[in-house]
Amino acid sequence: MAEEPVVRMGETQAGVTRPSVAPIYQTTAFDVPDLDVLQQLYAGQVTGDIYTRDSNPGMRALAQSIAALEGTEAGAVFASGMGALGSIFLTLLSAGDHVLTAQSLYGKTLQLASRMQRFDVAVSAFDVCSPQQLTAQLRPGTRFVLVETVANPLLEVADIEALVAAAGSVPLIVDSTFTTPELIRPCSLGAAAVIHSASKYLNGHGDVMLGVAAGSQQLMSRLNETASIFGQNANPFECWLTQRGLRTLPLRMQQLCRTTCGLAQYLSSHPAVQRVYHPSLPRHPSHRLASRLYPRGTGGIIAIELQTNGRDGMELVNRFMRAVPQLPFSPTLADARTTLSYPALTSHRFLSAEARAEAGISDALLRISVGLEPLELLQQEFDSGLNSLLT
Ligand SMILES: Cc1ncc(COP(=O)(O)O)c(C=O)c1O
Repeated sequence: MAEEPVVRMGETQAGVTRPSVAPIYQTTAFDVPDLDVLQQLYAGQVTGDIYTRDSNPGMRALAQSIAALEGTEAGAVFASGMGALGSIFLTLLSAGDHVLTAQSLYGKTLQLASRMQRFDVAVSAFDVCSPQQLTAQLRPGTRFVLVETVANPLLEVADIEALVAAAGSVPLIVDSTFTTPELIRPCSLGAAAVIHSASKYLNGHGDVMLGVAAGSQQLMSRLNETASIFGQNANPFECWLTQRGLRTLPLRMQQLCRTTCGLAQYLSSHPAVQRVYHPSLPRHPSHRLASRLYPRGTGGIIAIELQTNGRDGMELVNRFMRAVPQLPFSPTLADARTTLSYPALTSHRFLSAEARAEAGISDALLRISVGLEPLELLQQEFDSGLNSLLT
């Protein structure tokens, strides 16, 4: 017998035990025993995978976890949060249709919506705090309405039930990246589907790029098909990391919410801060709604407007960042560490200066993504950074 060629080596049998943690199926494709099985796989008569761009055990497992957490029939996974959103736009919209979005969405989501105009899709926006505005802008060709649970960075809270009622038969799609199923389950309040940038809290360790969606089996199958055709598919390693991250989601969200409320309160008493945006504070416009919808908190994001007293806002933010390198600038959120971001030059840099001003994004606005550090340590660090602005 000829020797086994090296390209066929490397297989082991599982034996009588199984791994305590599901393995990463790092494979492009799956060997199919014969053409009958191939036909059964395509017909959905047996469970299995054929090609990783379409599905893979780790991708399926994560999709199921997301569906269970969101309380929906099915889930789906994508290369990124934008992959999930892109898939929804490409699946549900055709030339001549209309899509309605909240005005205050993540900057790239607004860019995505406006790109659709190239394909003869009409796009309009409404104030998420006004369900009446939503209803007034519906048209016969409106295919869906898109909102975020809690808007970035000023944290206006969407009243999902009121928006569902205002949208009538038009499906409401909710980006719940900031809040996670630990704090709210939009589909249980009537939303047709929910999406997340899993690069954020679902994974929670700042080392993944992934998106997920949850909703009906029919919609998730259509999204999967689009993701496969347009190459927006997730990959096995990111799914594995996110599945691991999910195991600590309840603990992380609990601690984050507690620390964030404490820090928001502390920051609102500091003389170098002109205004703190957090729904736990009574003067926040969404305070009452947030207390009803989010009894466990609204997550780990706070925005603060520094007290400029006529000084340049961007320069002040720069001074603050240089004074506290332990609180790094990082253009993301939901890392395990506390990080800072500057909306005017990150999430909202694609808006004109006028549009930014209208959205309340000033040059002195700093966004904080609170991490898992003890509250006392964060208070000390913010204190030293903010005190350096008082001189
Ligand atoms: C609310 C929200 N939705 C979607 C996205 C896009 O996600 P991703 O960066 O995973 O593509 C982001 C990214 O910051 C986000 O904050």
